[in-house]
Amino acid sequence: MTAPPGDLLVRRIGRLVTMAGPPIASAAVVVRGGRVAWTGPERDLPLDLGEVAELDAEDAAVVPGFVDPHTHLVWAGSRREEFLARLAGERYDGGGIGVTVAATRAASTEELVRLAVGRARAALAAGTTTMEIKTGYGLSGDEELRLLDVIAQVAREVPLRVESTYLGAHVVPAGRSRSEYVDEVVATLPAARRHGARWCDVFCDQGAFTVEESRRILAAARAAGLGLRLHADQLGRIGAVPLAAELGCASADHLDRIDAAGAEAMVAAGTVGVLVPTATLSTRSADWGQAAVLADAGVTVALATDCNPGTSWCESMPYVLSLACLGLGMTVEAALRAATRGAAAALRKEDVGHLGPGAYGDLVVLEAEHEADLVAHLGAPGVRRTVIGGVPVSPAV
Ligand code: NIG
Ligand code: FE
Repeated sequence: MTAPPGDLLVRRIGRLVTMAGPPIASAAVVVRGGRVAWTGPERDLPLDLGEVAELDAEDAAVVPGFVDPHTHLVWAGSRREEFLARLAGERYDGGGIGVTVAATRAASTEELVRLAVGRARAALAAGTTTMEIKTGYGLSGDEELRLLDVIAQVAREVPLRVESTYLGAHVVPAGRSRSEYVDEVVATLPAARRHGARWCDVFCDQGAFTVEESRRILAAARAAGLGLRLHADQLGRIGAVPLAAELGCASADHLDRIDAAGAEAMVAAGTVGVLVPTATLSTRSADWGQAAVLADAGVTVALATDCNPGTSWCESMPYVLSLACLGLGMTVEAALRAATRGAAAALRKEDVGHLGPGAYGDLVVLEAEHEADLVAHLGAPGVRRTVIGGVPVSPAV
């Protein structure tokens, strides 16, 4: 259910953050045909608007809709035992992925859609308007294609802008030989494209795929017409970031263990760094220096939820913003930019993540008069209204 292009006047905005220029006080936004037609101080509003639906922001702040460029939204089952073990001091090593694979394979397609739609609606209520969704809990050609079909169904049922990613190379499934499974991942790429995938991702890390395996899969993905992204430097530093730079991946994600040389290679390649502080928190294994390493090198930074059952059970970009500031040490301005424009850059999209003229009319009315209050108010819903393409979509009317 992609939102129909809407016409909307948003009035009485106390503070409008467009990410395309300085914030505007006492502002209004005009959306025509789903796209931003005008922004400015309300007193300068064009007079010839005609009949148009209005949304009164009641002096709250308005920001661009959040772009979440990294989620593993489609799964069934629970990782409760592993979470409790981690609280008792056990280390995360990706070994629990198999538990989710078993539960996901056992679930019907209808059940997987129902679960993912619930998570997508929670994200929408928290201000996400564009979301990347990966497969990765099927781990066979057929099961991974089924998960791509689930993603396509979620995109029909929830008015989010969805980007679909094939992550057949999440881990080698139990009982399979590595080389045979890599062959199967590669052989599935053309079908993945036909089942709606725009991107291919690989978990290139200790306990997952090697640099050589990842290079082979991503090169084949490019030949199949898919864009490239990479899970890199989450658990160890095995050369995934240099590989992302070598292949010109749109993004390298996680980066808990990124170093200055890796960050410099990313800048040279134009690879965006996607940070996932909720996963950093939940795995309890990083030192939180990664945002500074990326910023010092001048890498474009994005923020994402990494929503998944094992390391980041979180649909909320406001929660991620709070943790980016309080954990990673980002400023409110840098964090908001990373959750909007930076995240759009990670998906190579120019018409979301800001409210400049011509961008999609995707915006969020905050439950606050300033975006710093959204960050400071921990665990609060934070978002009053989510608008996509000029259509208020959450809460449902
Ligand atoms: O992004 N890093 C690998 N994949 C997921 C976690 C998968 C899981 O543990 O279920 C992540 O953290
Ligand atoms: Fe991830």
